[in-house]
Amino acid sequence: MKVYLDNGGTTRVDDDIAKEMKVVMTKKYGNPSSVNSMGEESRDIVDDARKVVADSIGALAEEVIFTSGGTESNNLAITSLIGKKHIITSSIEHPSVKEMCKQLASEGYKISFVQPEKNGVIDPKKIEKEINDDTSLVTIMHVNNEIGTIQPIEEIGKICKERKINFHVDAVQSFTKVPIDISNVTSMSFSSHKIHGPKGVGALYFKKGKKVKRMLFGGHQERDLRAGTENVPGIHGFSLAVKKEQPVEEIKKLRDMLIDGILKEIPDTFLNGDKERICNNANITFKFIEGEGLLMHLDMKGISVSTGSACSSRSLEPSHVLLALGLKHEDAHGSIRFTLSKYTTEEEIIYTIKQVKSIVKKLREISPLGK
Ligand SMILES: Cc1ncc(COP(=O)(O)O)c(C=O)c1O
Repeated sequence: MKVYLDNGGTTRVDDDIAKEMKVVMTKKYGNPSSVNSMGEESRDIVDDARKVVADSIGALAEEVIFTSGGTESNNLAITSLIGKKHIITSSIEHPSVKEMCKQLASEGYKISFVQPEKNGVIDPKKIEKEINDDTSLVTIMHVNNEIGTIQPIEEIGKICKERKINFHVDAVQSFTKVPIDISNVTSMSFSSHKIHGPKGVGALYFKKGKKVKRMLFGGHQERDLRAGTENVPGIHGFSLAVKKEQPVEEIKKLRDMLIDGILKEIPDTFLNGDKERICNNANITFKFIEGEGLLMHLDMKGISVSTGSACSSRSLEPSHVLLALGLKHEDAHGSIRFTLSKYTTEEEIIYTIKQVKSIVKKLREISPLGK
């Protein structure tokens, strides 16, 4: 049996979307900048997609810029919103924010990395405490990609608004699964491949009146803000993914079944992050074993999981997110992220629990780590 439980890493493209994208690639392939009818047809596709994304978050179409995905959107937003020399972020951000902030630190910016509480939630009061006269930007993710915890972005947004500070939100994991409120937000990032759309496309919401700093120079695409011929099939596929409803309650039911099954049937396991989390995430520590070993054995049984975010899981460093929650190094190393999607079935969850149970038992018998 093949079981894909790495949907936090990326998702399978929805069949209908793939089909519609093919039509754009093979029949409606004009360049949106061309002044011919094929070009106009493509421009309409991009304009319609922009409206779909904007409507889905209650923004204006002109406030949406298409990008190559979440990483570019985060980089573009942060680069655009830094004025004065102090930035506030959390210690559990995705590398596309964390590494960007480290780069800015090397250029002389002062970065405050706020620690989450033990449940993975960031206390808005801690953000408020860090604000000073030099603060130009607060950047906090909506949902954490490793542990699925939902951050209080409404409260943080209110604080930023009162103090007249820019607030950027990385909403790559939450988009279409958790309600989004942009009222106190300056900018927000989205990615298509996390929601059954194609890879290499995403968007940045950027509040009207704020100035985007160009990172790419060339043609006049995206109102002069991002040069380069638009990824029309990708943008179209992304907009179709935005329109598809996520069966949040069904995914949550199966996710809870997975958590209950593992925690009840396997001793010395615990869930990382708050119980209140995004519908599709379960991050579990299995004491006395290495997560990589468990991952490989599950892989041999046809089950795909991950040990952290896809971007850092090839490094042998323990997850910076789990360490920030206060986990010991060996417990952080013994953790697995299971992320479900609308394609996950009950049969797959039953099979996964059974396989995890038997592999953990075997690995513990030969583990040098304890028990
Ligand atoms: C929270 C978060 N932000 C940003 C990204 C980067 O998105 P993309 O892969 O589209 O560049 C990811 C992808 O893993 C993510 O989970």
